[in-house]
Parts: sequence; C-alpha cells; structure tokens
Amino acid sequence: MTIQDSFGRPLRDLRISVTDRCNFRCTYCMPAEIFGEAYQFLPKEEVLTFEEITRLTRAFVDHGVNKLRITGGEPLLRTDLPLLVAMLADLDPALDLTLTTNAYLLPQQAQALKDAGLKRVTVSLDTIDDGIFREMNGRGFPVQRVLDGIESAVQVGLSPVKINAVVQKGVNDHTVVDLARHFKGTGHIVRFIEYMDVGNRNGWKWDHVVPAADIVKLIDAELPLEPIASNYRGEVANRYRYRDGDGEIGVIASVSMPFCGDCTRARLSTDGKIYTCLFASGGVDLRDFLRSGASDSQLSDRIKAIWGRRADRYSEERAELAPLQNGRQKVEMYHIGG
Ligand code: GTP
Ligand code: 5AD
Ligand code: SF4
Ligand code: SF4
Repeated sequence: MTIQDSFGRPLRDLRISVTDRCNFRCTYCMPAEIFGEAYQFLPKEEVLTFEEITRLTRAFVDHGVNKLRITGGEPLLRTDLPLLVAMLADLDPALDLTLTTNAYLLPQQAQALKDAGLKRVTVSLDTIDDGIFREMNGRGFPVQRVLDGIESAVQVGLSPVKINAVVQKGVNDHTVVDLARHFKGTGHIVRFIEYMDVGNRNGWKWDHVVPAADIVKLIDAELPLEPIASNYRGEVANRYRYRDGDGEIGVIASVSMPFCGDCTRARLSTDGKIYTCLFASGGVDLRDFLRSGASDSQLSDRIKAIWGRRADRYSEERAELAPLQNGRQKVEMYHIGG
C-alpha cells in the first residue's frame, strides 16, 4: 500500500547501504587524510545482517517501494553480497534491483550478481583521463580497471550500464566531452552530476559546481544533443540524446535545479537507520527496534510514521538560502550511498 509524506510524495525507492567501507578514497567523499589506517569503521555487530536488511526491505516493499539500489561505501566489499541480492530479488521479481559501484571488484562478481537476480549496475567514473582519475580516487587506481568492470557487466547482461560522473570545476570539468565521446555509441548512459555539498568534510563551495546547463553546452558544441522526455516521474537525470542517434546522456542538476518536489527516496544506512533525505542531520533507528523484538506490524507502523512526517527539501532550501551558507551538520555520503 502506498504511503505519502507531508508534501504528498509517495515512498518508491529504497537505497540500501551495505557497508561504510570503500577501497577508493575519492577526494570529495572519503579523503585519504581523514580516512586513514586509524579510521574506525563500524564494528560488525553494528552492521545489519542480510536477514535484517531483507526483513526491513520487505516492510518497505509492502509500503509501495518498487526500486531498490544497493550502495555503500563500496557494496562489493560486503562479503557474500550475491546472497543478499538473491534474498532481495526473492521479495518480488518485479522490483527494479540495481547497484552502484566503483567497479573495481566487478569482474570477479558480475556473473554471481547476475545469477542472483541483479538487473543492472551503475558505475562511478568521474573522468576518462587516467592521470586525473588516479588523483580523484585517492589510491592511484587506473581508469582501465573500471573499464574492465564495465565490460564484465556487459558480458553477463547487467545492462544498460549507467556511468555516474561527478563534475568539479577546475578538477575534471575540462574532461567532460572526452568522457561523453568515449561512451558514445556503446549503449552505456553517462550521467554528469553536479557536485553537491553532501556531508561536512569535502569543503564544498558554490564555485566548485559546474551547472548542468553548462555541461550540456560543452558537450553539445562538439557532439550535438537534443533533450528527450523522462522515463518516469521523478527521474533525477534530465535526458539528452545525440542528434546522430548514437545514444543518450543525462545531467543531474541537484544544485542548480533541485528536484525535491518529486523525491520518493528513502535511505537505509549500514547500521540500520532510515534517512529521509541525502542531507539529513540524523536518521531514525530501525536496527535496535528490530533487535528488541518488534513485530512486523510495529515495524510497518514505524516506517509509516517516519515517512508520514517527512518534510525534507534540502536542495530547494539550499537554492533559496544560497548566500547564507548554513553550517548545519549533515550525514556523510559513505554512510548512505549516493
Ligand atoms: P536510475 O534509476 O538508474 O536512473 O537511477 P537514479 O536516477 O536514481 O540515479 P542514481 O541512483 O545513480 O543517482 C545518481 C546521482 O544523483 C547520485 O549519485 C546522487 O549524486 C544524485 N542523487 C540521487 N538521488 C538524489 C536525491 O534524492 N537527492 C539529491 N540531491 N541527489 C540525488
Ligand atoms: N556530489 C555529487 N555526487 C556525489 N557522489 C559522491 N559524493 C558526491 C557529491 N559530493 C556520487 C558518487 C557516486 C555516487 C554513489 O554518489 O560519484 O556515483
Ligand atoms: Fe568510495 Fe564511491 Fe565514495 Fe569514491 S565516491 S570513496 S568510490 S563510496
Ligand atoms: Fe530528496 Fe533531499 Fe535530495 Fe531533495 S535534497 S531530492 S528531498 S534527498
């Protein structure tokens, strides 16, 4: 049964973070100087088990969720992930079941994930320039490793592959057209994402953002584009196709043109808290509630209550309050995925 928040937005997507760890140290997400050897990630007992994730997800599906995205951190670091995929796929074969990954470990796992019922993958790749990529991922990993991961997804039928590129002014914005050109004609869909002020650690400033309209202009000047309609209401990416018919790209204008009005997403953190916005200061615990013996109907009621009082519209507020630069605490991206 569908439930609505305080603005009448239905609950449709659940994004599940299965680990807070990552093998990359992207400068804008887990900068190496903060996330070093001594950094304390969550201890095992605080992390939801597969049974707990599946039970919670079932309650969300009962409330109208039809799209699941597995994220992290880097989800492929979670031991036996295909087992979880199979458990989630079993909930309802019609679910859009997908995963966001940096693809480093994908060649070893693609077949098992596909066999378990995963439908497709989204791969993070911010630039096709090897030198810049090595710097951006904080670990010196080469682009080729990610391309191999994408190829393995295609081989097993986890497609169409979407490729997410976060664009930062002065860092990788001059490589946007090369990235588009590289994947033009391959059937993969590159989506360029405006750099956002998630968390409190990445030192975000408005000046670091390249507006989506400028990204489209840059690409259109060399590879002519035309806008096309959304696939569904609330789709975060604005779509464009190449005029020569050679595929499409997307831009995600979360800063310059916020899309909170259609936001139907809830996020489940690795330690079992529900966040009703990417920019929330805190989440509501479901793990300890489960572990203290909550019944299915109590769980269902709690989810309904959390969603029912939801009034988040952070990106719209950011746009309205632009000059004020409010300094409030926000959850970090690696806790709840993208
Ligand atoms: P598809 O169903 O494959 O199109 O997935 P999607 O459009 O939901 O895209 P994805 O989950 O890959 O999200 C792409 C990026 O958009 C994320 O990495 C975030 O940077 C941004 N994004 C996604 N959801 C939200 C959201 O609710 N709010 C904001 N501000 N940004 C979001
Ligand atoms: N702004 C926009 N996107 C981000 N991501 C991580 N941090 C940010 C940010 N500050 C993206 C990653 C990945 C997904 C999980 O979220 O690049 O594609
Ligand atoms: Fe890892 Fe993704 Fe964060 Fe990069 S953006 S550090 S790949 S979780
Ligand atoms: Fe949804 Fe919050 Fe993003 Fe707005 S800022 S689209 S409410 S997650």
